[in-house]
Amino acid sequence: MCTSIIFQLNQTITEYSGNPSTRLLQVLRDEYYLTGSKCGCLEGECGACSVLLNGKLVNSCLVAMGSLSGAHVLTIEGYANTEQFHVLSEAYRSESAVQCGFCIPGMVLASACLLAQNSTPTDEEIRTAISGNLCRCTGYQAIVRAIRKASLVEGIDWTIHTSNLWIPITLESAVVTIAYTKAVPYAGGTDLMVQANESIEYLYLGQIAEMREIYLNQDINQHTGGILRIGAAVTFAELIAHPLVPQILKDACREVGAPAIRNMGTIGGNIANGSAKADVALICRLLDASLNLHSIRGVRNLPIVDFYQENKILDLQEDELLVEILLPIRSHTRYFFHKVSARQALAISRISVAACITVFEGRITHFASAFGAITDVILRPYEIDQLFIGLTIREAQEVRLQYLTAMHLFIQPIQGRVSAEYRKDVCMNLLSEALDQLLIEAD
Ligand code: FES
Ligand code: FES
Repeated sequence: MCTSIIFQLNQTITEYSGNPSTRLLQVLRDEYYLTGSKCGCLEGECGACSVLLNGKLVNSCLVAMGSLSGAHVLTIEGYANTEQFHVLSEAYRSESAVQCGFCIPGMVLASACLLAQNSTPTDEEIRTAISGNLCRCTGYQAIVRAIRKASLVEGIDWTIHTSNLWIPITLESAVVTIAYTKAVPYAGGTDLMVQANESIEYLYLGQIAEMREIYLNQDINQHTGGILRIGAAVTFAELIAHPLVPQILKDACREVGAPAIRNMGTIGGNIANGSAKADVALICRLLDASLNLHSIRGVRNLPIVDFYQENKILDLQEDELLVEILLPIRSHTRYFFHKVSARQALAISRISVAACITVFEGRITHFASAFGAITDVILRPYEIDQLFIGLTIREAQEVRLQYLTAMHLFIQPIQGRVSAEYRKDVCMNLLSEALDQLLIEAD
């Protein structure tokens, strides 16, 4: 079986297409001609094949290529370009710690790994660190002396630098990567890359198939139309083009940025950004979406209302990934969405109002409204919206004034780029327009 695996080899993004069961050692030597990794035992007992995998010492003879998706592999050839290597190399030379040299690449990487974790090791700690690396000719005393000597060189930062971009192609690999690195996840980057910081580790999720899918799960029957499952790395352009996506969500996607932004920006990013001005997040709040958050502890399904705690404060743990958005699809539903901004494209919302109504057998079975860019959080007045539930359209018209009065009290905009008074007036006008459009008898 062939597969395509993207990983970093000596800080170069590398694609491997081949048998996922093949040993890393074999691929390093036979395909990439990195022969510094030696083949001794092929059983994990000699350490001659040692490399650093995500900064940790491993035997490359025991690493299957299929497990490397998104990983960093550093061989002695990659490490040889560093200042630390030259300090170790000089220490090994001056202590006569090298004879035939067969074990030395692995021994140096074991030394590097130790010093990265403990720059002032005791002799006992040094012996423990190289205990998996056999030397058949030098004898270990000289090697221990060499490592100790290197550790005493002043001004050396022993940190092992790997590239700061992780590119897993499986969800499992992404979840493990974030658990151990706390890298910042992203897929589109339209927001994050504005403040790109080369000292931060990033986790790119755009290669993960499960996070690029949209499909309808009709097995869940509490919502008549089923649950639309949208991968967090699906772009706005993909949402607009997909036949299963509700029109109101497409309309909101069309309000995001301009074509170049919509081709990159993702629904997951819009939600996890935490902004009260996020167009797509507003619709997900309106439709009572829930979110699947994955971590090495499992999958946590969270109603989106609980995801947003305060302004930009999310119920999202450091090791959790937003993987999927679950949207309940209701049949017999009509929608309203209007965004007010300074211009048509590339503009942040000043006020956004969304609403929807479901009428079944002559009665309103569901009514929802949501307001963006009014306060620091998206507003979703559940209790007031309940006024319409169970009513006919005619009865709803009769409580319309009561509804608008309650909303007038509820909506208390904050001052922003536009005044609070302006926001309130526009918001109430848009809400009135929404009721005009939604509270009409169906044909
Ligand atoms: Fe890998 Fe010996 S060849 S440990
Ligand atoms: Fe020859 Fe170590 S120097 S095996």
